[in-house]
Amino acid sequence: MTARRRTLITAAALWLPVAAFAAPITMGFSQVGAESEWRTANTASIKAAAKAAGVTLKFADAQQKQENQVKAIRSFIAQKVDVIAFSPVVESGWDTVLKEAKAANIPVILTDRAVKVADASLYVTFIGSDFVEEGRKAARWLLERAAKTPNAALNIVELQGTVGSAPAIDRKKGFEEVIKSNPRLQIIRSQSGEFTRAKGKEVMESFLKQRDKKIDVLFAHNDDMAIGAIQAIEEAGLKPGQDIVIISIDGVRGAFEAMKAGKLNVTVECNPLLGPQLMRLAQDVVTKKPVEKRITVEEGVFPAEVAAKELPNRKY
Ligand code: AHR
Repeated sequence: MTARRRTLITAAALWLPVAAFAAPITMGFSQVGAESEWRTANTASIKAAAKAAGVTLKFADAQQKQENQVKAIRSFIAQKVDVIAFSPVVESGWDTVLKEAKAANIPVILTDRAVKVADASLYVTFIGSDFVEEGRKAARWLLERAAKTPNAALNIVELQGTVGSAPAIDRKKGFEEVIKSNPRLQIIRSQSGEFTRAKGKEVMESFLKQRDKKIDVLFAHNDDMAIGAIQAIEEAGLKPGQDIVIISIDGVRGAFEAMKAGKLNVTVECNPLLGPQLMRLAQDVVTKKPVEKRITVEEGVFPAEVAAKELPNRKY
């Protein structure tokens, strides 16, 4: 770089917003879909942050299909984008396409969900939540609640997320790891509700129809499925939040409204507002600055008792 050019950049840097310092970046982003309130907030955060940072965003919605994500990634490679970011719908099956990105010298950032690949150098970094810990937090809340009714057995039904996805696998793992310390807590049924309200309702209806065992607790891997299940529980003539204790994950506005109405007992936060961090990370990756391999986000637990106070502060 010439001295004159360096001076111009330095002068410009005095008034340009921080995010606009770096060379313009084109990012290809493959999103899982639009299956939940969480996902809508995540997409909005990424689009807004790209605009604010002056990043040209090529955005593709995969409609919950891995094959669409593979196609999108191949098209980003063909378009020679500077960086590819994506939230993988499922954990496995990425080795081939990520090798293609590596061969084309295009760095890959994973957001929200992780992948299982033989060679970890196929992606540069991951930014997202600790899903195992989210499952543990949900179970710890239940253990505390169970301690208040020391002799009762608690039958749990579980609405899992998308089969093969990192949040479904990890949340289940974390939840089971913690509840096993109390043999009174048993998962009696577990099925995927695909992270959607409609499927959450449908699966809960089928759980409720099987009358062999009373259902005491619902653990839903996300708020949308819990909200769908609440409808099913009400239609079955039961009181959600009272007859059946409901625990879910995400912390979306809809969950806070359900808690305020007494229909949901607790939500474990999973933060979708990853856009600004992703854009900063992309600039570091493209300019070859060292970055952490895994960047996780701090998150809380919100029981129904704090819902009314917290609702006005929620950003998603
Ligand atoms: O990967 C994050 C999960 O995906 C969210 O918990 C869920 O709502 C979304 O569909």
